[in-house]
Parts: sequence; structure tokens; C-alpha cells
Amino acid sequence: MNKNEILQGSTDLREREVENSLRPQSVEEFVGQGPIVEKLRIFVKAARLRGEALDHVLLYGPPGLGKTTLAHIIAVEMGTQVKSTSGPVIERKDDLAAILTELNHGDVLFVDEIHRLNRIVEECLYPALEDRKIDILIGDGPHAKSIKLDLEPFTLVGATTRAGMLTGPLRTRFGITLRLEFYPPEDLAKIIIRSAGILEVPIETEAALLIARRSRGTPRIANRLLRRVRDIAEVRHDGRITSAVAEEALRLLDIDHLGLDTQDRSFLQCLVDKFGGGPVGLNTMGVALSEDEDTLIDVVEPYLIQAGLLARTPRGRVATPAAWEHLGLKVPPQISDLGADAQYVDENA
Ligand SMILES: Nc1ncnc2c1ncn2[C@@H]1O[C@H](COP(=O)(O)OP(=O)(O)OP(=O)(O)O)[C@@H](O)[C@H]1O
Ligand SMILES: [Mg+2]
Repeated sequence: MNKNEILQGSTDLREREVENSLRPQSVEEFVGQGPIVEKLRIFVKAARLRGEALDHVLLYGPPGLGKTTLAHIIAVEMGTQVKSTSGPVIERKDDLAAILTELNHGDVLFVDEIHRLNRIVEECLYPALEDRKIDILIGDGPHAKSIKLDLEPFTLVGATTRAGMLTGPLRTRFGITLRLEFYPPEDLAKIIIRSAGILEVPIETEAALLIARRSRGTPRIANRLLRRVRDIAEVRHDGRITSAVAEEALRLLDIDHLGLDTQDRSFLQCLVDKFGGGPVGLNTMGVALSEDEDTLIDVVEPYLIQAGLLARTPRGRVATPAAWEHLGLKVPPQISDLGADAQYVDENA
């Protein structure tokens, strides 16, 4: 199973359908992310009491942590509709105008990958966010005339894996900014048990926890692993997911005890073997691994950093002593305290 597929959302229709069937529809079904959910509940309640649209919300964090899910839940909680689109899809000002003028009072406009909006569209969005007005051009040539249209109050929910790539002016127009964090295994186990219920697969609590610990803190991975484990449980066993079946499946999928797959391990191996553990620039790593830099930043690195295996320093990426140990290598003396000293640079914040 390819992690890019897992994380970036598979293009496979069937996979996407299953993913949607597992998506929590209400705040009660949404597991974990306590602080974010608590804030949202308060802001939603306050906006509803005042009969206003919720302030614009920016959701950011690594792929598969629930940004799209939360955007839908916000609309449910506000008792409004959601219209979904994504940054690269809105190509021209007219596209944006068409979307905005169709919104009803209090609707949620969900813009995924909002860091990929083009400049012209983005600038056109500012007055819409601030004053609920949009300039549109009527007619063309010398008779063209610009008119201002009033929009209904609406809530923009923007999602991005890279808050750092948002322009300053766009960023400041969000009244609420929420960062999703990786999930602890106990929360992922709850998600797995809930999903197993929907998929009607019998699963032992211990097995759920075992899969949870290997899911890189990510609900999407937890759900995908559950389905692959189910395949093995059904084909090789009696369909029940026990700890033994889960262990067997995870071994077959080549996922180690930290949840790292072959791509994660090749990243660390390359850093250690070819560059003595770093520091090395990301572009160099990209070339060495024949991997797209964006994939490394969005998909591979966040969890390695979270797991304490990788540090981003001002001079480049560095494998921490824990990474050497994880690969079964002796930590060279000169780097043994690098992990602690390495200054962490959060490019995503
Ligand atoms: N808190 C949660 N509780 C239960 N299930 C969750 C939760 N968060 C996410 N999921 C599950 O994980 C899947 C992926 O979540 P979602 O699509 O919302 O992630 P995302 O952050 O939008 O990812 P991307 O950055 O790739 O767009 C969903 O289908 C849903 O089933
Ligand atoms: Mg999404």
C-alpha cells in the first residue's frame, strides 16, 4: 500500500466511497482533538445565539487528520449548508464570484488546499471576507462596468496542510485558526472500533489498539489499515480481527512497530547512509530519493518529526539519535547530542 495514496486521498472511487462512509457526521461522532472541538462548540454557540454567520475558520495540519470532516461538521452545527471547492479549482475571478453569489445566509464555503489559490482570485476574496462585497465586471470592451454586489453573510472554512504558505493578508482574515494535531493511540483505537462497527467487522480491543499504534497518529491511515487487516482476517482466518491477525497483517504490510512504512524508512536510511545523518537540504533529499519535495514535507516529515526521529534545523534535516537506533545503527559520538540541541524550525506553522 502506497502512503501517498493513503494520505493524499486515493483517486480510487471505491476507496473514497468507503472513506466517506466512515466520516463522522456530527460533533458527537468526531473523536479526539478536544481543545479544537471545545473552541468550535463555543464559537458556534455564540454565533447562533447572535443569529450571525460563524467567523471565518482556518484549519491546518497534516493530511488525514480530519480537516474536511470538521468543515462539514461546522456546517451541521451551524444548521447550514456546505459548498465545497478547492484552491486550484477556482481559476478565475468569475469562478469565485459564481460560487460566492450562490451562498445562502450562514452557509459554509469550504475551500480545501487554500494555499493554492491564485493571487488574483485571492485578492478578489479579501473584500468578500471583510465587507461581504464582491466586484464583478459587466459587459466587455469600452462598455464594461464594474459593479459591487452584496453577498449573504457566510463562513469561509479554509483547509491547508501548509499554513506557512498562506499569504499574510489571507491569514489575517480568518477570525479562528485551528491546528489539528496527531491523534494519540487511544483516540485512534476508538476511531478504529467505530469504523469496524460500521464495516461490520468483529475486532478485539487489543487488536484495535495495536493497529492504532501503527497508524502514525492519523485517522485516515487507521481506517485504511483496518480495511487491509480485515482483508487478511477474511482471506486467511475466520474474519475476526484478533491481535495475532493484526500483527500478521502489519508484518505483511511492512509496517514497523512505530508505524513507519518502507517510504519512511528509506527517508531515514538515505539521510543516515548518504549524508551521515545530515544536516542536509530538503531539495537534496528529494533528488536522492526521487521524490517530490511537497510529498516529503506534507506526507513523510511531519510524523517523523513528531516521533522524534527527524529534526528540521536552520541548516537542513537531521536524523536524531533515535532515528539511528530505530534503524538498528550505532549512534556516532559526534551526533549523539544533536537531537537535543537541534533547533526545531516549524515550517508548517
Ligand atoms: N476525529 C475523527 N474521528 C473519526 N474519524 C475521523 C476523524 N478525523 C478524521 N477521521 C476519518 O479520517 C478520514 C480522513 O479525514 P479527512 O478527510 O477529514 O482529513 P483531511 O484532514 O481533510 O485530509 P486532507 O489533508 O488529505 O484533505 C475521514 O474519512 C474520517 O473517516
Ligand atoms: Mg481534506
